Amino acid sequence: MRTSINALVFVTFILLAQCGSKENKTKVDTPVKKAVEFPRDPHTFANADKAIMKHLNLDIDVDFDEKKIYGTAKIRFENKGTDIVILDTKDLNIKSVKIGDRSTQYTLHEEIPHLGSALEVSIDTFTTSITVEYSTSANAEALQWLSPAQTSGKRAPFLFTQSQAILARTWVPCQDSPGIRFTYEAEVSVPKNLLALMSASNPTEKKDSGTYSFKMEQPIPAYLFALVVGDLDYRATGERTGVYAEPSVLSKASKELEDMETMLNAAEKLYGTYQWERYDVVFLPPSFPFGGMENPRLTFATPTILAGDKSLVSLVAHELAHSWSGNLVTNATWNDFWLNEGFTVYFEYRIMEEVYGKDVAQMLGLISYSDLLKELEDLDYGDDTKLKLNLNGRNPDEGVTAIAYEKGYFFLKLIEQTVGRDNFDIFLNKYFNEFAYKSIDTETFLAYLNKNLLANHNKADSLINIDKWVYNNGLPDNCPKIASSRFEAVKSAADGFLNNNVLNGSKAREWMYQEWVYFLRETSDSISYQQMAMLDKDFRLSYQDNAEIAFEWLLLAIKHDYTPAYNRLERFLSTVGRRKFIAPLYEAMANNPKLAQRAKNLYERNRSSYHYVATNTIDKILDFSSPN
Ligand code: BES
Ligand code: ZN
Repeated sequence: MRTSINALVFVTFILLAQCGSKENKTKVDTPVKKAVEFPRDPHTFANADKAIMKHLNLDIDVDFDEKKIYGTAKIRFENKGTDIVILDTKDLNIKSVKIGDRSTQYTLHEEIPHLGSALEVSIDTFTTSITVEYSTSANAEALQWLSPAQTSGKRAPFLFTQSQAILARTWVPCQDSPGIRFTYEAEVSVPKNLLALMSASNPTEKKDSGTYSFKMEQPIPAYLFALVVGDLDYRATGERTGVYAEPSVLSKASKELEDMETMLNAAEKLYGTYQWERYDVVFLPPSFPFGGMENPRLTFATPTILAGDKSLVSLVAHELAHSWSGNLVTNATWNDFWLNEGFTVYFEYRIMEEVYGKDVAQMLGLISYSDLLKELEDLDYGDDTKLKLNLNGRNPDEGVTAIAYEKGYFFLKLIEQTVGRDNFDIFLNKYFNEFAYKSIDTETFLAYLNKNLLANHNKADSLINIDKWVYNNGLPDNCPKIASSRFEAVKSAADGFLNNNVLNGSKAREWMYQEWVYFLRETSDSISYQQMAMLDKDFRLSYQDNAEIAFEWLLLAIKHDYTPAYNRLERFLSTVGRRKFIAPLYEAMANNPKLAQRAKNLYERNRSSYHYVATNTIDKILDFSSPN
């Protein structure tokens, strides 16, 4: 059933695309008849059942003056006897398509919302490689071009890509589906004073030539294709791990991540050998719209985790965990996104428990629970609260919610509790081995789970109630409860403070950031202006550098008209571009009649320094009609 609906959707794309073909250079064989059951991924045009991409040879020039990438992409594919190969593109200018030295006919179909334009290329039934010459456009959604002023050093410009979920096609023509994997080589030319890095083997020093070569020998899906260019230096944190950052950030960054090698070893001990040789992290400027992005061999990270006390390094544990869940075993479509993120949150907390102890892991679990309850409310317990999503015809970004992460985590935690941790660990080791370098859907996972774990455990199946967790809305009653003695103490402190205005300063000064977050959430409904002022005086929360605490505090300030924090609020929104923080802050401002106009003004001032991923979300929140 699922397959035929997807096939139908795909046929509709192609039909629509055919109607409005811009470049009727040639009459090409229509792919409509060819759209059989593959691909099941509703977010790609690729005809991967007939011609599936295997290798990319990319040669690009990064032009900071024009804010464009000029490229030649040689794509090798396995041809099962078709005379058409279809690639995904979005906003690309296609200059030529060749087979060897000979130009071949192609059609760039009309753009379809979210998906972009199918690039349909005529080939021979024995052709296995084509070369596309192209350039990116000003609105390439994966790319953020930063001026020197937007960097920490203020001297050099900066560029980074964000390909997940379906933005790789805005900077390289490819078969952009998490179910399609390819190896790659790239040659990248950049201005001479800058370093280029990719999700591949990387240099550690700048080259005078400004030309860098990269190789990724393990097959990866297009969403993990990544490039960063900037004034970057490198420092090792261990044998296999290290940090790249702008020179002025490097020392702080490498200190913050000094436990990275330990985390990597802990992760391997849990779920098997690390497959990607090196694990490095590059710190991007604060406009990076995410906390982290698990680009293989080179995680991209926000500088907002540089708290000075390693308190936010669970983000690195998370991205590192993706080296197994996500990068090795990949969700086949974005409807199966929880397979990437739910597993990764589970694995993240296991790494944190190994390296920093049970207390920390428990607190993270409880914060997840509070995020999950809020998300369920925000999504009205609707269809997007199912683990298995239906994003067909929608932007897959709509599936990036706490459901995939936190509901996914609690589902796996429930399985762990039901069969016992040792058994679950043995199973997970086997799972990562069995499906390494493969992309699987939810159903494949569930079948494997039943056969290899639950079948051996009496009643596990009915105790867990898989169907309800995966295919129903909301949160089943058997969701595991996590206890944390530290949070219990914080809860009493919060109650005491709300009722009697007293907070034990010496204790609170020892709190970890999770405890502050929990305290601020517990007090958020009924705290008074005076109580906020007391806290601010004693703990200087309006000057907090820890981004997670600052964020919770600013939400409270907006909610309770705590005006002394508004300067900090404006500063925060003018320097940070991480969507997880700025979208809820703008939303809270918009919901407060006294701040709604201020939110709009502030957004208008800062919009151009945010990444597309962030503006796409916040435009909707603030009803901002985009100038393009
Ligand atoms: N892969 C995600 C980021 C992502 C998801 C980008 C979907 C685009 C589409 C990454 O691993 C992630 O989950 N990042 C989180 C951090 C984390 C600790 C939960 C983030 O950016 O906040
Ligand atoms: Zn993740």
